[in-house]
Amino acid sequence: MTARRKLAAGNWKMNGTAEALDQVRALLAAHGAPGCDILLCPPATLVHRMADLAQGSAVAVGGQDCHAAASGAHTGDTSAAMLVDAGASHVITGHSERRTDHGETDAQVRAKTEAAHGAGLVAVVCIGETLDQREAGETLAVCGAQLAGSLPEGATAANTVVAYEPVWAIGTGKVPTLEQIEEVHTFLRRELEARFGAEGAGMRLLYGGSVKPSNAAEIFAVRDVDGALVGGASLKADDFGGIIAALEKA
Ligand code: 13P
Repeated sequence: MTARRKLAAGNWKMNGTAEALDQVRALLAAHGAPGCDILLCPPATLVHRMADLAQGSAVAVGGQDCHAAASGAHTGDTSAAMLVDAGASHVITGHSERRTDHGETDAQVRAKTEAAHGAGLVAVVCIGETLDQREAGETLAVCGAQLAGSLPEGATAANTVVAYEPVWAIGTGKVPTLEQIEEVHTFLRRELEARFGAEGAGMRLLYGGSVKPSNAAEIFAVRDVDGALVGGASLKADDFGGIIAALEKA
């Protein structure tokens, strides 16, 4: 099987101004040579400064969204090339908060992911079911459809990471059972292999939703979990550091 390097990714969402960069300084001091990849995705206003700070370190910096177009009359949006220009190497696409707040469809997420790839960014493509969908027994169908619709043909192990984030577990403190996580990740791995072959076998699959230092180790022990996409617990160097330490031991 293709070796997949573990990835601890932090999504700061709409949190953080310049003073929050102290958390990055602390993280860099504590994790000089980590046994896993580390990614931080701050708000767009901090991408450039964080990338400068993290240059030459083990911490990669990413955006939280990009526009599908390269440039143009799209007030308030950021293109993939602009993120690269600011020092980013990654971008999150299709986060459920963008699907909900901004009505993003699978087709739009796919176009954004394609734009990210075109600009040389690694896309962290997010999918996940709502509580209603889980209770209706639709989890695998929903996740399968989102995966199929959100990933472009050109997705590879090098340019794409998939994050499974059940909407009902995000910011709620509720976490699926380990069996539920394994069921979805095993399913997603099969789907990725069926469509992308060896590239699909090599794509990292992250779990996201209320990951904390206290539950990280058991989640990372689940088959086909290659790391986490962390929201709230990525804001503090100590908490994110605890998750990184759990991943290094996994
Ligand atoms: P929390 O870790 O705060 O639940 O957020 C998860 C998430 O949405 C990461 O993208």
